[in-house]
Amino acid sequence: MALPLPIARTNPFDPPSSLLDGEPLRPLAFPDGHVGWLVTDHGLARQVLADPRFSSKMELRRIPVERPKVEGFETGQSALRGFFIAMDPPDHTRYRRALTGQFTVRRMNALRPRIEQIVAERLDVLESKGQGADLVSTFALPVPSLVICELLGVPTEDRGLFESAASTLLRLDASDGDAAEAMTTLLGYLSELISRKRQSPGDDLLSGLVSEEEEFDDEELLGIALLLQVAGHETTANMLALGTFALLRHPEQAEALRSGAVPVASAVEELLRYLSIIQFGTGRAALEDLELGGQQIKYGDTVILSIPAANRDADRFDEPHTLDLARNARGHLAFGYGVHQCLGQQLARIEMAAAYPALLGRFPKLRLAVPPEEVPLRHDMAIYGVHALPVEWS
Ligand code: HEM
Repeated sequence: MALPLPIARTNPFDPPSSLLDGEPLRPLAFPDGHVGWLVTDHGLARQVLADPRFSSKMELRRIPVERPKVEGFETGQSALRGFFIAMDPPDHTRYRRALTGQFTVRRMNALRPRIEQIVAERLDVLESKGQGADLVSTFALPVPSLVICELLGVPTEDRGLFESAASTLLRLDASDGDAAEAMTTLLGYLSELISRKRQSPGDDLLSGLVSEEEEFDDEELLGIALLLQVAGHETTANMLALGTFALLRHPEQAEALRSGAVPVASAVEELLRYLSIIQFGTGRAALEDLELGGQQIKYGDTVILSIPAANRDADRFDEPHTLDLARNARGHLAFGYGVHQCLGQQLARIEMAAAYPALLGRFPKLRLAVPPEEVPLRHDMAIYGVHALPVEWS
């Protein structure tokens, strides 16, 4: 029998237990009445993500949870041109290639000192709060948000507008009206930004795209900018906040990171695996009837690849429910797999590698300021994490 996607968690860091139990490929009931499929097996998830017979097109795939309906954003209609996460090759390839040309190792390395500086400045702000503060609003959200401003060439004083609009768009319980308003605000802002970049390009990524040989029109640039903005800051922000929560609940692991006993790169990969913040996974629609994992998938069926479950697959990772910063977590699916694998992954890694050790180093006595069960969890958001993380350090 097809059941809805399990959502309720009993532990802040573990996926819902009914997601982890049961068949690795099972029927899934969608809110619109569609019966599709849920994949919880690591190998099978990778197989689907690498298979061109499965489409990412927004107009074909369904969303496994109720969420507000906003034109151009996961509504079952086509995506904005340029919003290439919701496109298939060859259309996707054209954008991806141009963007890969902008997300160069050189640009990422050039950003590293600026990211370290942003981290240090936000730690100063945190320290200036006295003995305690909310880590999300003071540190975890501003760091990636300022980095995205830097990348896109957005004046930093405008980040408040970005943050609140993106957060409304990612709320499952926002009204259709509020979500539509947030989308209008964001698109209006980004349109103006693009025309400013056309008039006087700088050395940021958007300016780079404006002056690319590959001509993108304004609508395409808008789709690209929207995607980078939405994909780029709430994700990393939640990794920083939920990651810190996890470290504070595993003090021996935090100590290993603080003391340098585990390499920071390995710690970052394990936190990505263990926390898997894209909590409802990613979806694909079958472009033809086909056989998968012993089941008949029909043309048009949406298959949800549960990233949290795949990253806890015991056939792939030993003791998958243990946070072990020293393990080799490579091969996790936190950034997806295949042609849509996260474009910003190196940037996100640089941000996390700069932030966790600096935070733990600056505040050796960092601890929760409330009982752990009082930390508000983001069950209600497309991206999992914490709404706030009250901490103290004196
Ligand atoms: C820890 C933080 C992040 C996580 C966990 C994450 C996760 C993901 C995942 C799972 C996908 C694949 C979606 C799919 O297959 O349907 C993806 C794609 C994408 N991500 Fe990230 N992401 C993160 C940070 C970022 C950042 C910092 C940026 C940009 C600055 C970014 C930009 C993108 C873009 C543009 C895509 C679409 C790629 C394509 O369709 O070719 N992400 N991300």
